[in-house]
Amino acid sequence: MTDAQNYLGKLVTIERYILEQQQAFPEATGILTNLLYDIALAAKIIASKTTRAGLAEILGSAGEENVQGEEVQKLDVFAQRTLYRLNDHTGRLAVMASEEVEDIIPIPDRFPTGPYVLVFDPLDGSSNIDVNVSIGTIFGIYRRKTLQGRGALEDVLQPGRNLVAAGYVLYGASTMLVYSTGRGVHGFTLDPAIGEFLLSHPNIKLPDKPKYYSVNQGYQPYWSLGVQAYTEWLQRDTPEKKGLSLRYIGSLVADFHRNLLSGGVFYYPADSKDPKKPGGKLRLVYEAAPLAFLVEQAGGYASDGARPILDIEPQKLHQRVPMFIGNRMLVEKAEALIRQHDVHA
Ligand code: AHG
Ligand code: MN
Ligand code: MN
Repeated sequence: MTDAQNYLGKLVTIERYILEQQQAFPEATGILTNLLYDIALAAKIIASKTTRAGLAEILGSAGEENVQGEEVQKLDVFAQRTLYRLNDHTGRLAVMASEEVEDIIPIPDRFPTGPYVLVFDPLDGSSNIDVNVSIGTIFGIYRRKTLQGRGALEDVLQPGRNLVAAGYVLYGASTMLVYSTGRGVHGFTLDPAIGEFLLSHPNIKLPDKPKYYSVNQGYQPYWSLGVQAYTEWLQRDTPEKKGLSLRYIGSLVADFHRNLLSGGVFYYPADSKDPKKPGGKLRLVYEAAPLAFLVEQAGGYASDGARPILDIEPQKLHQRVPMFIGNRMLVEKAEALIRQHDVHA
């Protein structure tokens, strides 16, 4: 069989794959399917800008600060606007929420609302844009809880256990979209020549033997004793595993994706360095919970150091949470060492 025939034989676009997944739900209305299409389209549009970031006058800061008090990059703004504009008029959503917007994002009155809620970090790893390091988008989809009308904050502040779908886009050496609707984790690689996401990583599962640990060791002096002991345990050969290598790129999506494929643990623990961020830096609603949903679908586990991330009921839209995410054995070890060293401290 020629390469071309072989290639064409394997051509499964994300649209076709999502549709096939929908067929497993006879009662499905197709709204979630179309919402996932919209997100894939937004990913292609953002990807087209990230691959030319150095050229398209899109580098550098937008000269404003976001709700996190962080300098907003132009690409952050572009990604935010793209995700918003592709979803504000479709009638699929009751409400949206974004890392870049202080409050919930209502659907404009001139458009109908729908049954779903979209939460997202439009551009994760923004500090890496100008140095050409991989960046990402993270999203989560809930069913609305309120019964009618414009969506409300309670539709967004749901525990990750309620997610119906979640995923991320990784703008790296190639652009990948990885998602789950609760039936496994599936990865698609963008073929820029035809503008299609093609199935490249069906049914991703964390390898049993972990290879990496990912943490910003620059904060080591500010960690609890439990987290210090944990980091030392990860580095050593132990009966459960070989000593792990450190890989940390400072882009959550890139660090998470590498560990998902290679096995390992990513953690951003609480530290005493920044009084403004006592509970770690990562945000629960649109960073930790969607990735926790994915990692459990891939056979792993995500914890705040004491309990499953997916069980945490958000109280505030931008609340931060410490996170340990990856192979279940590694994350449960973190919980054990924190219980042993810190709980009574
Ligand atoms: P964002 O760019 O959306 O604000 O997220 C950045 C996050 C995450 O991507 C990464 O893991 C973390 O910031 C890196 O933080 P440190 O530089 O403190 O390690
Ligand atoms: Mn982020
Ligand atoms: Mn971001």
